[in-house]
Amino acid sequence: MFSPRAVVVATLVVAAGGVAQAADPALPHLERRGAATQLVVDGKPFLVLGGELHNTAASSAEYMAAVWPVLNAKMHLNTVLAGIGWNWIEPAEGQYDFSLVDAALKNARSNNLRIVWLWFGSWKNGLSSFAPAWVKAGQQRFPRVAIRGGKTIEVLSPLSETNREADARAFAAFLRHVREVDQSHTAIMVQVENEVGVLGDSRDRSAAANAAFAQPVPKPLMDYLQKHKDDLLPEFRQVWQAAGFKTAGSWEEVFGQGAKADEVFMAWNYSRYIDRVAEAGKKEYALPMYVNAWIVQPADKGPGDYPSGGPQDHMHDIWRAGAPNLDLLSPDIYLPGFVELTARYSRSGNTLFVPESFDGTRGAANAFYAIGQQRAIGYSPFGFEAPRGELGEPRSAPPPNAEKLPLSEAYDVLSQLAPLILEHQANGTIAAVQLDRQHPDQQIRLGDYTLNVGLTRNVRTPNVAPDLAGYGLFMATGTDEYVLAGNNLQVTFTPATPGPPIAGIALQEAGRFEKGQWVATRLLGGDDSVLRYDISTVADLNQSGSGVRLSTGERGIQRVHLYRYR
Ligand code: DGJ
Repeated sequence: MFSPRAVVVATLVVAAGGVAQAADPALPHLERRGAATQLVVDGKPFLVLGGELHNTAASSAEYMAAVWPVLNAKMHLNTVLAGIGWNWIEPAEGQYDFSLVDAALKNARSNNLRIVWLWFGSWKNGLSSFAPAWVKAGQQRFPRVAIRGGKTIEVLSPLSETNREADARAFAAFLRHVREVDQSHTAIMVQVENEVGVLGDSRDRSAAANAAFAQPVPKPLMDYLQKHKDDLLPEFRQVWQAAGFKTAGSWEEVFGQGAKADEVFMAWNYSRYIDRVAEAGKKEYALPMYVNAWIVQPADKGPGDYPSGGPQDHMHDIWRAGAPNLDLLSPDIYLPGFVELTARYSRSGNTLFVPESFDGTRGAANAFYAIGQQRAIGYSPFGFEAPRGELGEPRSAPPPNAEKLPLSEAYDVLSQLAPLILEHQANGTIAAVQLDRQHPDQQIRLGDYTLNVGLTRNVRTPNVAPDLAGYGLFMATGTDEYVLAGNNLQVTFTPATPGPPIAGIALQEAGRFEKGQWVATRLLGGDDSVLRYDISTVADLNQSGSGVRLSTGERGIQRVHLYRYR
């Protein structure tokens, strides 16, 4: 009943730029499978249950010695996101040292983990902190961004071909090495740079940047915008429209005066630069590649408060035009509003991957939602191996009671469900919610029923929303049958097709999946299923009063079979 069904497999991969590229099916790659784009590793779809290490963790064998054994065995991660600094691998120009790369591969392999590399090349959080000393100290040769007032900052200028080619050479050498030593595909994807964009001003005002800004908008960008005019994201289209939809002219003529034009100019230059770095890397080893965005924060007044020119969602059209070698444009989400933010990064065919966000209960809810509702290829909290204290300082690594952490328990459930989730992402028969006191209920149409999902209520006060955070994902696994997983939720069912109007529960089991097969551990009923006793009220609502109550632990995964009556 739960064996994965064959899904229609397309062999072309669509990059963020909308350009179809032939994928080497032997390598990890992104593939359109039915209703979802999925990461395929060793011939099978793969769900990234990830965690991003603190920035420099992978440079310390001593620190990682205690961390590696815990990640999969206790925390149920299948993938670690590990930073690799340009300065670590090319300490002297043209002389490469890949010992940290080799150590990460070896340790990941022996601890049953895959790796997503984070290439800290020219930029990390906007700044050029991981550029090698010979680049930093060679300012004449490797030009910097200048900001208003003429000061240069510790940020390599994306307008410089020398900067770009030096980064591309190192990145290509790095991936050539990975290709040579990683035949078992431990590394499955690469983030190119980290949260790029100019901080402290809306654009680079170096001499080269000023000269480029005085030139007309490049023809390839204009051509792209005209070709995709009807499909542009509304907030960007509005910028172009406000300036009169001009098809040629200076940056300010085409995109308006001031910060808006500056931001588009920087997005074009960052995307072209990073596309070249990605292209050089893919020539050596064509792993899927993405960039991550430092998203706009509520206090930001404009570009420069957040990194100007980064892949924020309102700049996606420019990034698509400028960087066809990037496969995904990903958000780092440390704000409330995960539902809305992930929707914004799932537009225009962008496949969602969340490389940085929260751990804890919030992280568990986010992972379920991103994977279940937005069909994300994966989720990854930041700095999970040493959760931070109140001042943001990393605490002990690995965390005590690692196996009992909310995210570890959530990943345990998601890893059991992964084959089924991937099948139902492709079939479009999966949904998920995140609920809280402000949004205590949600209805979802899935299969032949509407699922009435709510925060778990007290059986005697069914109309009072409790102060809980609830999350869950649901799959329509057969006729009248669902698999549900989550925490702090209750679910009732309403038939959505012609026939008897009331749904009752024929069979309800709690259990787990072992190697993709359902193993029932408990037959549920009685107090497990009765959600309310005001039976005449619920009868008037065409409800039975019974349903599913999800909570972590033994009742965290349930399978129900429904029947209908009148
Ligand atoms: C976002 C960055 O991408 C990470 O590398 C790290 O610096 C975190 N911020 C810190 O919260």
